[in-house]
Amino acid sequence: MSSRRPPRFSTFAALVAPLLFSGATAHARPTSRTVELTLTASPARLALVPGQSTDAFAYNGQIPGPTLEFREGDRVVIHFRNNLPETSTIHWHGLHIPASADGSPLNPVKPGGTYDYVFTILPGTAGTYWYHPHPDHRTGDQVAKGLYGAIVVRAADDPLASIPEKLLVLSDNRFLTSGEVDLQHHDSPQALIDEQNGREGDVLFVNGQVIPRLTIRSGEVQRWRIVNASAARVFRLALPGHEVLYVGSDGGLFERPVPVKEIVLANGERAELLVRGTGTPGSRETLQTLPYDRYTPQTRPANWNAPRDLLTLQYSDEAPLAPVVLPSVLRRIPVLDTAKATATHVIVLSQGLINNKTMDMHRVDARGPLGATEIWQIENVVGMDHSFHLHGFQFQVLDRNGVPEPFRAWKDIVNVPKHETLRFIVRYDDYPGKWMFHCHILDHEDHGMMGILEVTPQHRGRP
Ligand code: C2O
Ligand code: CU
Ligand code: CU
Repeated sequence: MSSRRPPRFSTFAALVAPLLFSGATAHARPTSRTVELTLTASPARLALVPGQSTDAFAYNGQIPGPTLEFREGDRVVIHFRNNLPETSTIHWHGLHIPASADGSPLNPVKPGGTYDYVFTILPGTAGTYWYHPHPDHRTGDQVAKGLYGAIVVRAADDPLASIPEKLLVLSDNRFLTSGEVDLQHHDSPQALIDEQNGREGDVLFVNGQVIPRLTIRSGEVQRWRIVNASAARVFRLALPGHEVLYVGSDGGLFERPVPVKEIVLANGERAELLVRGTGTPGSRETLQTLPYDRYTPQTRPANWNAPRDLLTLQYSDEAPLAPVVLPSVLRRIPVLDTAKATATHVIVLSQGLINNKTMDMHRVDARGPLGATEIWQIENVVGMDHSFHLHGFQFQVLDRNGVPEPFRAWKDIVNVPKHETLRFIVRYDDYPGKWMFHCHILDHEDHGMMGILEVTPQHRGRP
């Protein structure tokens, strides 16, 4: 992420083979183009930390995997080749696409196997998403070995299109002295702590680099798209002395910018920020992650309370730019009306269990008719945070412990702090089928904190 090379976007251009548009599906408006590419997951020996090499897994040989850039309306065809020695899938976290393309554990791809993920990017879904494997029980290990990447979906009418953009993919990892990824699988004390807390690493990465430098010019405004791709770490991001506007989340832009001093970004979540370069030419600042206590007291890591540096924001020596005027309205987000909700699903998160059960691929845990609007009430009854993710549909958080959410946002994952009950509303406007919901702490997911929502086709078109 130097000033000379925008993060990862250039690598993708070479992978995209635009084809002639060949027809729309029932769900799609006519699209202007088809984007077709191949993602191959393979073992790779890479230098992840300075001075060492590591047996990793990588998409197309790189960590993070190539950034995928789509436009609303695109028809996307992704040829997945699994060259790993184990079963995998690719899940397109947050995208509103058919269940057959979701890459869930229901559609495993065997070693040496291939799968074509075919979907259309619908209008109104511009935002920042990500992709990662989703095989039964093995997601955490495969992500830890290096399988994750960002997706940027652009809108033709993006109100922030003229603002220079940076992509920050955050993750963490832990290594043995040999340089290999430290995956604890036996009954070691660390394995038990990982199982409880979710695996955290002491090495923090931004776009696969440790404390990289990002350049800004004094007076410039930059749009930062941030993905938290870590298994369990919650980042609490702060840039001292800077005015930051929080402008978007998982499913794209908010209605209006929200001035913030810091943001809490749980594992799996995304954020869009506008950072105004108020520093002087030649100065520097550090983007930090501040302590966030998501733990039970018994397994809180010893150093949990220490702020950590993530990247250096370096001001160029150029003279300050004149301040730019930023839009005060970003878009309209339709209101999902609670009066139209036809059911409430109560989901109780305890340690390792959802509604007192572990995942069963042959069970359906919740059903909702296609077209229905429903409320989900997520109750975290234990003394540590869990992040709750629903596949396939963006939702709107209504309230937390009865306190209304301050502004509307499209979300696909939400952190549920210890002993909190939150409610969200969702409409199954398209795409019947079986959809996962789960805690996104990958160790919890892999150990069974997951269930299945089946969206049934019978009431098509009738709310
Ligand atoms: Cu980001 Cu079910 O996954
Ligand atoms: Cu997902
Ligand atoms: Cu959890």
